[in-house]
Amino acid sequence: MKLILQKGPRAEASTLVMFLAKDKGAPKPASTKFTVELKSLLDAAISDARFTGAKQESVFFRHCAVAGFTNVLFVGLGETEKLDSEAVRVAGATVYAALKGHKVTAAALSGESLFKAIKDSSVAIQALAEGLLLSDYAYDELKTKAKTPAEKFVSAVTLLTPLAPSQAQQKALKRAEILSECQNFTRWLGDTPGNLMTPTILAEETAKAAKGTGLKVTIWDKARIKKENFGGLLSVSLGSDQEPRFIIMEYKGAGAGKRPVCFVGKGLTFDSGGISIKPSAAMEEMKYDMCGGAAVIGTLLALAKLKAKVNVIGLVPASENMPGPSALKPGDVYKARNGKSVEVFNTDAEGRLILGDALAYGSEQKPVAMFDAATLTGAILVALGNTHTGVFTRDVKLRKRIQEAGETTGELVWAMPLNDFHREDMKGTHADLCNISAGRLAGSSTAAAFLEEFVSEGIPWAHFDIAGTAWNVSSRFPYCPKKSASGVIVRTFVELAESY
Ligand code: BES
Ligand code: MN
Ligand code: ZN
Repeated sequence: MKLILQKGPRAEASTLVMFLAKDKGAPKPASTKFTVELKSLLDAAISDARFTGAKQESVFFRHCAVAGFTNVLFVGLGETEKLDSEAVRVAGATVYAALKGHKVTAAALSGESLFKAIKDSSVAIQALAEGLLLSDYAYDELKTKAKTPAEKFVSAVTLLTPLAPSQAQQKALKRAEILSECQNFTRWLGDTPGNLMTPTILAEETAKAAKGTGLKVTIWDKARIKKENFGGLLSVSLGSDQEPRFIIMEYKGAGAGKRPVCFVGKGLTFDSGGISIKPSAAMEEMKYDMCGGAAVIGTLLALAKLKAKVNVIGLVPASENMPGPSALKPGDVYKARNGKSVEVFNTDAEGRLILGDALAYGSEQKPVAMFDAATLTGAILVALGNTHTGVFTRDVKLRKRIQEAGETTGELVWAMPLNDFHREDMKGTHADLCNISAGRLAGSSTAAAFLEEFVSEGIPWAHFDIAGTAWNVSSRFPYCPKKSASGVIVRTFVELAESY
């Protein structure tokens, strides 16, 4: 989809889109250019279609011939007092769905009607563009029936600005384009099935995507992983015919002396549970167990494309978790990268094993801060559902920084507890650590406490459990695809990196 900014009031498009906020229970024409014809259409929308200007509401008029356009679409923004960038992102998704539903390929959006409702026009442009571009994603490449272009996408959207578009507005659009493109790439990595997205392929696709961006990608094979004492990553991969990979991405946007921000992501390309095998119901969802790694890859690509002035390292341990003849067995003990011994009581708690080595390696790079993202625990779904990503950190300042980043990007984050009780629960019987807690409760916090054992003292670190938010969230976020990967946490990770 092509998205451009252009001074209004006209553009080469069949359809005019007007935004309306809900004010005292009724839609409020937020534009001075609201002509008599538009006003009478709005009256019709209110009386015939019960249009109120609520979030996700839209009314389409075909062949009404108003203001030089063939069709008109009214889109609700929701209540004026609650109007924030997320409401505009949702409005972008509403526009996209309505245009697609009515098979409109080119539309002009009234910027004036939008800017009247939300004060900062650059914020509005970025959010609207994200809503549109994130809606313009579908994982359908494996379906053999070709779709006609008109059915498939809304091809051109022009946002009409009252004045000539400013540099700040153009920059906001560009930022939205890069963020959405990279988030959509993260989704694509997640949606691609396990047989087509093995650790080897994940590494190859990362290298391919990084070409020309200034991002350096280094890939370790099994022999190197073994040589580097990544005992956790190696152990998890033992039950599979697919070799593990360790993906290292480096972006240098600041001086050589500036310490990097480090991101680590779980790249488990398929999690069967291993010998502690999972029940078969919904096991297919475990192709998404590499969404943390995919988010880190998307983050590094976005930072490089944005030419962010920061040094960043991205680390993705990638493996399958399978119950093959050489598989890790309950009770087995291995030695991790940082020298700690770990007994594995449940081979389905594998994410923490591969992340442990990566966090230890990340710590060796002496980062200013380290963040990891992982579809780590089913327990976080019980606690937070599919709306909020659970954030675990003992660092109060870092927690605040993360909350602020989340507020900017619209990705919901929620601080979860992590303390010495959880740490105590992860002590081993015959090794330093055990990979599951003796008790069954607070499973997400004990998992975080296990990860903490691999982060060196003094490094500000936060763990993001995205098991609930990485896929199937379209019921909450209409710009996310149905039954697909959401691409969550890319935008917040980019925001965090840029804050250093
Ligand atoms: N990948 C799963 C976590 C998961 C579960 C993600 C459901 C998304 C949806 C992880 O590897 C896992 O299996 N965790 C176990 C840990 C347990 C054995 C301590 C879990 O959550 O059940
Ligand atoms: Mn598992
Ligand atoms: Zn897993």
